[in-house]
Order: sequence, then C-alpha cells, then structure tokens
Amino acid sequence: MADSPAPSLQFFDRFAGHEQVVLASDPDSGLRAIIALHSTALGPALGGTRFHAYPDDAAALDDVLALSRAMSYKNALAGLPHGGGKAVILGDPRSIKTEALLEAYGRAVDSLAGRYYTACDVGTFVADMDVISRTTSYVTGRSEGNGGSGDSSLLTALGVFRGMQACAQHRWGSDDLTGRRVAISGVGKVGHRLVTHVLDAGASVVIFDVDRAAIDVVLAAHPDVDVAATEADLVGRPGIDIYSPNALGGALNDDSVAALGASVVCGGANNQLAHPGVEQQLADRGIAYAPDYLVNSGGVIQVADEMHGFDLERARARTMGIYDITLDVLRLADAEGIPPAQAADRLAEARIATGLSGSD
Ligand SMILES: NC(=O)c1ccc[n+]([C@@H]2O[C@H](COP(=O)([O-])OP(=O)(O)OC[C@H]3O[C@@H](n4cnc5c(N)ncnc54)[C@H](O)[C@@H]3O)[C@@H](O)[C@H]2O)c1
Repeated sequence: MADSPAPSLQFFDRFAGHEQVVLASDPDSGLRAIIALHSTALGPALGGTRFHAYPDDAAALDDVLALSRAMSYKNALAGLPHGGGKAVILGDPRSIKTEALLEAYGRAVDSLAGRYYTACDVGTFVADMDVISRTTSYVTGRSEGNGGSGDSSLLTALGVFRGMQACAQHRWGSDDLTGRRVAISGVGKVGHRLVTHVLDAGASVVIFDVDRAAIDVVLAAHPDVDVAATEADLVGRPGIDIYSPNALGGALNDDSVAALGASVVCGGANNQLAHPGVEQQLADRGIAYAPDYLVNSGGVIQVADEMHGFDLERARARTMGIYDITLDVLRLADAEGIPPAQAADRLAEARIATGLSGSD
C-alpha cells in the first residue's frame, strides 16, 4: 500500500484560538456565509455581519477569523460580558441582498442558539437587522421601532470624545478641551457627531472629508468650523493639538505619522494603524495614541444593551466609562514602556484569560 501523506495540522492551525467556525449556505436564496466564534469566555459572542464581495472564499475566511478575534479584544476592553464573534456573507450586497437571503442568514444565526449575537457592519444596515430579526432573536442593531437602539454612531461618537478627554488628561493634566484645536478627518455619521461634542467642549475644529456633501452638512450646522483642502493639509497643519481619524482604516502610516503636528491621536475609525510598527513610531514621536478599538467601542456598547431591553441612559453611562479605561491603558503603557496599542491588547488578553470582563 502506498504511503498516505502524513496528517497535516495546517488546516486546523488556521483556526487556532477560535472556538467554532460555521459555514452556512442556502441555495434557494444564494446565501453563503461564514460565522466565526473566536471566544465565548466572557459571554455570548457579539459582532457584526460584513456583507462583501471577497476575491475568493479563502479571503472571506481570513477576514472573518481576524474580525472575530478583534471583537473578543474590543468587547473585553469595553467591559462587556461578551465574547468575540463576527460573520461574513459572501457576495456583492448590491446585487444579491434579498429579504429571503437575510432570513436564511437569520436561521443560520439562530442555529447557534445564542452563542452568537449579530449586528451591523460594512454592507449591512439597521433595516437588514430588522429583516434578520424575523428568523432569529439573536440580533442587535435593530431599529428603534423593532426593539433596537438605531444608529450606533450616537454612542460611538460619545466614546471617542470621552477617549479624547482622557488623552487630554494624560497629556496636559486636564481633561478640559477649552481652547484646544482638533483636526477631524471624515465627517460621516461618527465624525459629524464628534464635531458637535468637541465644539460643545470649547475646542475649535478643522475638518476634511473626500465627500464635499459631508463637509457641507457639517458647515450648515457649524459655520465656524474650518475646512482643510486635503488630508495632508489637515494632518500637517500647525497648531493642531488632537488628530482624529474617522474615515477608513490605515490613516496612520509612515508618512502621516512623520507629518503629524498633533500630540494626541484619538478617532473612531477602525484599524487606524496601517502596519505593525506604526504604534512604535507614534510612541517614539511622543504622540499619545488612543487605541481605535477601545475608543470606538461605544457602538458595540450601544447594541449590546439591546439584549436587556435598550436603555439609552444605561448604555450612555457605560460609554462614559471609556474615559477611565483609556486612562488605564495610557498609564499602563507609560509604566511598562510600551505603546498604548500593546497595553490595550495586554489588558484585553488578561480579561479574556480570567473570564472576568470588568463588569463582573
Ligand atoms: N458607525 C459606528 O457606530 C462605528 C462604530 C465603530 C467604528 N466605526 C468606524 O468609524 C469610521 C466611520 O464610520 P461612520 O459610520 O461614520 O461611516 P460613514 O460612512 O458615515 O462616514 C465615513 C466618512 O468618511 C469619509 N471618507 C472616506 N474616505 C475618506 C478619506 N480618505 N479621507 C477623508 N474622509 C474620507 C466619507 O466620505 C464619509 O463622510 C469607520 O472606520 C467605521 O468602521 C463606526
């Protein structure tokens, strides 16, 4: 008999650290989805559903594994009694998204019997969560009329603002932003609300967005806001105290970090660090960086609250606590001589390892 190849662990190695990965398909509606549960150590996994046309299935798997792991860290650091999970639906939402497909997806979520709660992410919206809620109750991010909390940018922006106040306390010995100058890149749902918080706190604001219509919406509400001509103009402007990325990922790269005039970076965009090592470049330049997944956790705090019958004041109170966690992270970073991004990871890993979320 010919020698059979030695059993390879490579396939399972790919899932190292993940508790469970589920493939879901429904030929009638065209659903092809992957649900990844990274950890339920702190409670049921919570994380959004990304609907995206991936170049191939392997890319979708890589994405959902990385995203679900990131949710474990985010939920742990936010002090939520939730583990990390995420789902991807494969395909272009503009051409294949139907109510039948979303209902089939809801059945797949339901089959996990509450080990995974879903929510909105890139390519899925509050209205989609309402459709999904027809076939599963394990769904958050629904509309207010359907027992949900609506647009999660409400508390995302508040959390980023609280992170900014903590950075100011750490950097300048006072969390009073009066007279500070804040550069906000990306004034969509989160960025626009953030402009309002920052102005209300007595700071001045300069903005940039690739979409002129988004800028005009902000100017209509706040005529005193300055507008930069380009992202590079915003980043390099003299006199900026805080730079706040609120558009897409990768805002902090070799060039932008070298050009930054601000001594604090705190924004809501996901994955701001363009590549490993940027966090050290920021630290080397003496710039206090508030880890993105910590300060933008107001959104997941908001949707998590839906599981208990949404109470805006309760969710707002927990979001206000992002101030304390950010200060803890910045102080730990100083004490250990490591960048805040690493300090945040350590804190999250310790919570996951002990099974204590910080809310226990
Ligand atoms: N909405 C939430 O609750 C939430 C929660 C956590 C994290 N985030 C993250 O925050 C960021 C903003 O989310 P949002 O809901 O406000 O999205 P959004 O689509 O409403 O707004 C994004 C804005 O960024 C602008 N933009 C895109 N590319 C840009 C560029 N290169 N330079 C400057 N502006 C650019 C867009 O024109 C748009 O106005 C995203 O990274 C998102 O993943 C959002």
